[in-house]
Amino acid sequence: MTTIQVDPQKVDAILDRWNRDREFVIEMLQDVQDTYRHLPRVAMEQIAEATGADLAQLYHIGTFYKAFSLEPRGETSIQVCTGTACHVRGAQRVLDAFSRELDVPPGGTTKDLKFTLEGVRCVGCCSLAPVVTLGEDLFGEIDSSKVARLLKRHQRKAAKAEEVDDA
Ligand code: FES
Repeated sequence: MTTIQVDPQKVDAILDRWNRDREFVIEMLQDVQDTYRHLPRVAMEQIAEATGADLAQLYHIGTFYKAFSLEPRGETSIQVCTGTACHVRGAQRVLDAFSRELDVPPGGTTKDLKFTLEGVRCVGCCSLAPVVTLGEDLFGEIDSSKVARLLKRHQRKAAKAEEVDDA
């Protein structure tokens, strides 16, 4: 599994942004989550030490809020809606197809840390069921035969975005 290296200076910059004030540990954890796509233990320890917050309390926050993850999440989140409208129109087959294509179970992250796959409750566009979100993009009327194409399209888009970033 690819690991994400934590740069103590980046965590230091996050601490400085919030004046190392214990009142803002949630905000600090949010910044760490945004930076590393999870809450690495070393970053949690650094925050605890710098703010005087209790490490166990930071872990409690990290496990309580859904926005946080103690395990590294993928660069792109894939959410397959399994709400009622999507379920009756084949969402489970779509979720299974993603699972097969990515070789990861629902709730898991690919070994290369590119994708995290999740089944989620209604995302509010039931008329488009079954619905999938891939990163920022939302797709409706997806069936399992479209899954491989969707992933390829996303990879092409990500590669193009990288080219623009490198230019
Ligand atoms: S049930 Fe899937 S969008 Fe509402």
